[in-house]
Amino acid sequence: MDLFFSQLTTEDKKQLEELLSGGESCAFNKDNRVVMEALPDESIDLIVTDPPYKDYQSNRPVARQKVKKIEGAHFDLPYFIEQSNRLLKPGAHFYCWCDHRAFPEIFLQIQKLQEQFPAKNDRLNYKNCLIWVKNNHGSGDLKGDYAPQHEFVVFAVKGKGKPLNGKRKPNVLFKKTENGIEFYPKVSNYDFNHGTTKPVEILNTFIEASSRENDLVLDPYAGTFSTGAACAELNRRFLLVELEEKYCEIGKSRINQVKKR
Ligand SMILES: C[S@@+](CC[C@H](N)C(=O)[O-])C[C@H]1O[C@@H](n2cnc3c(N)ncnc32)[C@H](O)[C@@H]1O
Repeated sequence: MDLFFSQLTTEDKKQLEELLSGGESCAFNKDNRVVMEALPDESIDLIVTDPPYKDYQSNRPVARQKVKKIEGAHFDLPYFIEQSNRLLKPGAHFYCWCDHRAFPEIFLQIQKLQEQFPAKNDRLNYKNCLIWVKNNHGSGDLKGDYAPQHEFVVFAVKGKGKPLNGKRKPNVLFKKTENGIEFYPKVSNYDFNHGTTKPVEILNTFIEASSRENDLVLDPYAGTFSTGAACAELNRRFLLVELEEKYCEIGKSRINQVKKR
């Protein structure tokens, strides 16, 4: 795929320069490749992202009409891993949402970095697979398969990796409540008219564990800016890139709502 939707304007470049020298968060309605390419090596403190690893379309007739299909074809995995490896600072962390089919491909692509970067300190290293068990399951093959109820998150670190902040957590994601433990609920397709919006509550746990205030967090597949909303809540600076204008508009209003609180 070598179609570039638009290049960076002078204004975009200025915004990026300001961001990189400690300035305000920003979001771009662009193909992420034009933004990632413009960033210098080791300029990002944390990547939290959710690439379109498959086509996504709801099986529910009403949702099918309201929520646009997400095209997995836009995901260039080798390019994404190569850029993530280049952009992360030494010790920085990487979280990438995926499902059980995409997991082995992402894992192998990270392992492949060993060929080009034999020294562990020079590359991204796979650490763990986190599992979000959803509070209810999706549909899928109603008779011939188990109902899908989990999602994976690939956790990797640049070099040896910085220690995680806070109390150690298990790799199955849940929250403790007065009544015991509870799984994080799914976000309804209708809340933001997007089929794969991720819970800000979970993103908060990643961002808190893997960054500090004012750090710069990159989400190159930003969707409706859930990562941005979590960063805004936690005083981290964000750089978001999303191809679809409609999702950028929804995302901007989410960030504004967090700022108003
Ligand atoms: C799985 S969704 C992310 C949803 C997001 N986590 C949220 O909570 O809203 C992936 C997003 O990547 C966007 N996308 C796909 N290819 C892209 C590209 N080359 N550059 C930027 N965004 C892209 C899609 O439009 C889609 O909204």
